[in-house]
Amino acid sequence: MSTAPVFAGPDAAVPRHVAIIMDGNGRWAKRRLLPRAAGHRAGVEAVRRVTRAARALGIEALTLYAFSSENWRRPAEEIGDLMGLLRLFIRSDLAEFQRENVRLRILGDYRRFPTDVVTLIDDALARTAANTGPSLAIALNYGAQAELTRAARRLAERLPPEQIDEAAIEGELETRELPPLDLLIRTSGEHRLSNFLLWQAAYAELLFVDTLWPDFGADELSAAVADFGQRQRRFGGL
Ligand code: IPE
Ligand code: IPE
Ligand code: MG
Repeated sequence: MSTAPVFAGPDAAVPRHVAIIMDGNGRWAKRRLLPRAAGHRAGVEAVRRVTRAARALGIEALTLYAFSSENWRRPAEEIGDLMGLLRLFIRSDLAEFQRENVRLRILGDYRRFPTDVVTLIDDALARTAANTGPSLAIALNYGAQAELTRAARRLAERLPPEQIDEAAIEGELETRELPPLDLLIRTSGEHRLSNFLLWQAAYAELLFVDTLWPDFGADELSAAVADFGQRQRRFGGL
């Protein structure tokens, strides 16, 4: 079944761009006396549920933090498990992205991943490049400080200092083709951004929920969107 997205207008209560720090897979597994890998597997199921729910709600762009530039500090075995799940996810869900007209995007330096994963990602990006429906952006080896540092370096090479303004910086960010970030959610009860979308979060609404990521689904996303709809955004004005 194809759910044709009806994108929200500027005043709509539905956020155009939602980003999620998907946290709590390890604790979900620990509570069940399972290995952390089982939590990550359950986390992939949550990704499927939430990406479908986001489409049904008419959210134009969903950005998911899947692997931070600091996650290399984890044991090699866990990193290997995460790479394996990423392979499975792309292989099994690419057909659905095609069917649903989803444009896949990647934020972060995914080229540091194993070569076969890089090839899979490049192929998925190419195959969905002409899709005109909602964007699914996955942050892989992403770190906002590195993103901003790279932007500064590129601009310094190209422009005199007086021409480096906010628009120029935004034009160098990896989110430059996505709508402005409206809602940033973090699961698992942690209250920090962990180097995610630091610039883009400037006027995003923040929502921290205790739910562990593998327990997050369509109902939790709907509740988050309803919460967003109640917020009064002032952007510094009255
Ligand atoms: C989030 O879950 C997934 C990734 C960071 C890849 P965690 O693995 O961080 O789970 P906790 O925080 O240990 O519970
Ligand atoms: C943030 O979660 C990164 C992702 C969800 C991919 P972490 O679990 O890595 O964050 P910290 O270490 O608790 O800040
Ligand atoms: Mg965590």
